[in-house]
Amino acid sequence: MANKTFYITTPIYYPSGNPHIGHCYTTSACDAIARYKRMQGFDVMFSTGTDEHGMKIEENAKKAGLDPQVYVDEIAAKFKKLWEYMNISYNRFIRTTNKAHKSAVQKIFKTIYDKGYIYKGEYSGKYCVPDESFWTQSQLKDGKCPECGRDVIDAKEEAYFMKMQPFAEKIEKLLTETDYLQPQARVNEMVNNFIKPGLEDLCVSRTTFKWGIPVPFDEEHVVYVWLDALSNYITLLGYENDEHDDMRYWAADLHMTAKDIVRFHSIIWIAILSALDLPLPNKLYSHGYINLGGSKMGKSTGNVVDPFILGERYGVDALRYQILRDMPFSGDMDYSNELMLNRINTDLANDLGNLVSRTVAMVEKYFDSTLPEEKLQNNEQDSGLITLATGLKAKVDSLIDEPQLGLALTEIFKVISRANKYIDETAPWILAKDEADKPRLACVLYNLLEAIRISSVLLSAFMPATMPKVWEQIGFCADREYLFNAYKNAGLWGVLPQDVTVKRGEIIFPRFDVVKETAYLNTLIK
Ligand code: MSP
Repeated sequence: MANKTFYITTPIYYPSGNPHIGHCYTTSACDAIARYKRMQGFDVMFSTGTDEHGMKIEENAKKAGLDPQVYVDEIAAKFKKLWEYMNISYNRFIRTTNKAHKSAVQKIFKTIYDKGYIYKGEYSGKYCVPDESFWTQSQLKDGKCPECGRDVIDAKEEAYFMKMQPFAEKIEKLLTETDYLQPQARVNEMVNNFIKPGLEDLCVSRTTFKWGIPVPFDEEHVVYVWLDALSNYITLLGYENDEHDDMRYWAADLHMTAKDIVRFHSIIWIAILSALDLPLPNKLYSHGYINLGGSKMGKSTGNVVDPFILGERYGVDALRYQILRDMPFSGDMDYSNELMLNRINTDLANDLGNLVSRTVAMVEKYFDSTLPEEKLQNNEQDSGLITLATGLKAKVDSLIDEPQLGLALTEIFKVISRANKYIDETAPWILAKDEADKPRLACVLYNLLEAIRISSVLLSAFMPATMPKVWEQIGFCADREYLFNAYKNAGLWGVLPQDVTVKRGEIIFPRFDVVKETAYLNTLIK
């Protein structure tokens, strides 16, 4: 029987500037979930890409003296390079300038038009150029764009609109009667600010710029970016095109975005899908922002942290870990160099790194690297560690599904801390003094290796480059490509061979001098 599918998406990013750690957050979060679901045996489709049309891109290309296509080609390549560097295991990268997507969007537009949901009218309103969004007077905040706080302009033009009212009830039901939108706090915002006042029709075409997909039956118009952009989630599967034949993955199990575009994914996308008579996605998780100096990190404000700098110096896995660990479920995270360095030192170098190196060093020292088959049975002193470690998988499973990645990591590190405490409680160096205690010592060290095995298998979804290095050291043979068995056994005790052989290796996470490193980083990242 074919495996159950799991379809997870990142937003498709604007190629209007270099990617930064804000983009890395969403993409790394999706990557961790995709990897976890693959371990669980799901047939995963994990998509990302770039959203390449619109006035802002056209303007940026002009400023750079480039043809828009050349301009987006360059930046899309940077996103791809970053995702490769960060070990992002996406299955498909969609660019909205690709031929199959463009023709599919034209068909989608025509279908919705033929059904009577799209009509021609005139738009006049307040328009935020950088965000490419029209706003009503009441939505403005102090006369400025409510999303980015910048000036809006008066804009008027002939445009096609999509009716929203026919879908209002369905959207409200989805938001209020199901768990579609997470965290739940965002539901009130959507209902009170957009649905209750009456949904406005959506502008779906523009005539004031050319860099877009032509409306098939009225070529003066190009498709307005959100209809174009949101459709990526189905066109990349092959909807209305022959490039792929993967609609079996639809409906999406999880769309992940930050809160900036939650309206588009919780209201407009639902209307589009309903107009097309397609099933609705299962969940939208809209996380908070990575802030820098109190405001949202973003390429348009220039306050960005370059992931390549951090990755080069501290390792990609450390960066992935820190952002996923410190972003709260429904709030923002303030990035600071100190926070990152302290997190690396405390959790990765001290707690995890020391646990692995101490355990492996003791097996090497006391048993010449190979534990004896014969050891004492576990006793009461061991039960706390064993119960916590074997219960971990079920906890992480449900936190991944929520998805509460920071809490999932917290739970894993509880086991790692418990194992460190177990070393203090059992004092292996004292047991080693007496030959008669050797069978007990072997039992203690085996238990430590087992706790490391379980934690590292579950951590491998978050830190995929480093955990295989841990496995080499603790003598755990896991198929790196196919972690199904490793995951399946993560709830069991006694999986490593009794006579396991360890192999001392490099330090997995070095410790940094926070003061020195912060001073260095402050010269690069302000
Ligand atoms: N092109 C649209 C999305 C279309 S999806 C059909 C867009 N692009 S964007 O480049 O502006 O990316 C927005 C997304 O990037 C956010 O929703 C979030 O996933 C990520 N982030 C960008 N900056 C971020 C932070 N400072 N913090 C957290 N996430 C950040 O909107």
